[in-house]
Amino acid sequence: MASILRTRAAPFTRSLISANRPGVSNFSRILTRKYTSANPGTGETPPDPSTKSSTNILALVGIGAIVVVGGAFYAFSSNDTTAKSTIQAAKVATNFVPSKTDYQKVYNKIASLLDASEYDDGSYAPVLIRLAWHASGTYDEKTNTGGSNYATMRFAPESLHGANNGLVVARNLMEQVKKEFPWISYGDLWTLAGVAAIQEMQGPKIPWRPGRIDGHEKDVTPDGRLPDAAQGQKHIRDIFYRMGFNDQEIVALIGAHAVGRCHPDRSGFEGPWTFSPTTFTNHFYKLLLEEKWVWRKWSGPKQLEDKKTKSLMMLPADYALVEDKSFKSYVKKYADDENVFFSDFSKAFSKLLELGVPSSQWVTPEPWNMKTLDEQADK
Ligand code: HEM
Repeated sequence: MASILRTRAAPFTRSLISANRPGVSNFSRILTRKYTSANPGTGETPPDPSTKSSTNILALVGIGAIVVVGGAFYAFSSNDTTAKSTIQAAKVATNFVPSKTDYQKVYNKIASLLDASEYDDGSYAPVLIRLAWHASGTYDEKTNTGGSNYATMRFAPESLHGANNGLVVARNLMEQVKKEFPWISYGDLWTLAGVAAIQEMQGPKIPWRPGRIDGHEKDVTPDGRLPDAAQGQKHIRDIFYRMGFNDQEIVALIGAHAVGRCHPDRSGFEGPWTFSPTTFTNHFYKLLLEEKWVWRKWSGPKQLEDKKTKSLMMLPADYALVEDKSFKSYVKKYADDENVFFSDFSKAFSKLLELGVPSSQWVTPEPWNMKTLDEQADK
């Protein structure tokens, strides 16, 4: 276990604090570093609102025009393939074409919001990864429905699906970003948040590109498309094969459980998977293989705990990865070599975030590598 604590996570951390939390009181939490809210890359700070009165009048006139144009656009194009929100139509109407620099500013804003000492283990990053994944993982290859394109989790009943419990926290946090950058679509915003969350937790670079559009209530996906944590390998394959993933990609993706935790008031399950829930590592696989996992005796849903410290957890669905021969071979591979895990995770997560988006919508033929705050500060 000590070996796991001594690997990659340690050099990046500024502070180790312990927290008193049911089920996790015996270990120290590793927190990511604090960031500033300015844009370190450009040195820019948000504009001073007091200098904006004349711009505001222009903006009001502009918004009026936008609403008219947007409404007309909507009226003529509200079907599955051409749905566009008013804001997106406005973007076209005002000739505002965001550049990579604009998206980097959005990334920076998201990154500045991740660190939050009052929340969970000190970071919103894990719940943002879960938002990006649940927004994309509804994809059905056969019917070409679901996926990240329309950001339908904004609407009931999808927002209320059991699997999405607690994601209102992440969606509300992203509203702060949306206010500052109203031109970005929700699908782009949520997926970029997943990218920023992984990269800022010292994870791999996730190639990403914009182009998703906001859909409508009629586009919401049916319940049951996301995995049920109480089930095993057959269910996992049914769910992920439906999206177009293979065994190797499935195992790589679930390695995201290196970060974050389960919340009794969201999924019913409780506790983190690793000792460093805010640093992206391959520890999920190492712990799966190295620890002895036993069923936890408690009043909640069936979950496993590590026999040694009883402070970590595995879901039945996580444990299925070592009960299945094919899955287990990849668990071993990723436990042995974090670089291989990072490389495979990056490809699979990038693919996940693009599910359901027609290629004609991408603004660039090749995805971009967004810069981390550290990379921009180093310049
Ligand atoms: C068989 C597949 C999967 C199952 C059954 C599953 C299930 C769960 C459950 C039950 C939770 C706890 C939610 C809560 O109580 O807050 C959770 C959290 C999480 N999941 Fe998964 N998951 C799966 C795959 C994935 C994938 C593919 C990703 C990303 C690539 C992912 C990323 C996360 C993250 C980061 C959290 C922590 C969220 C937080 O700390 O708030 N999961 N997952």
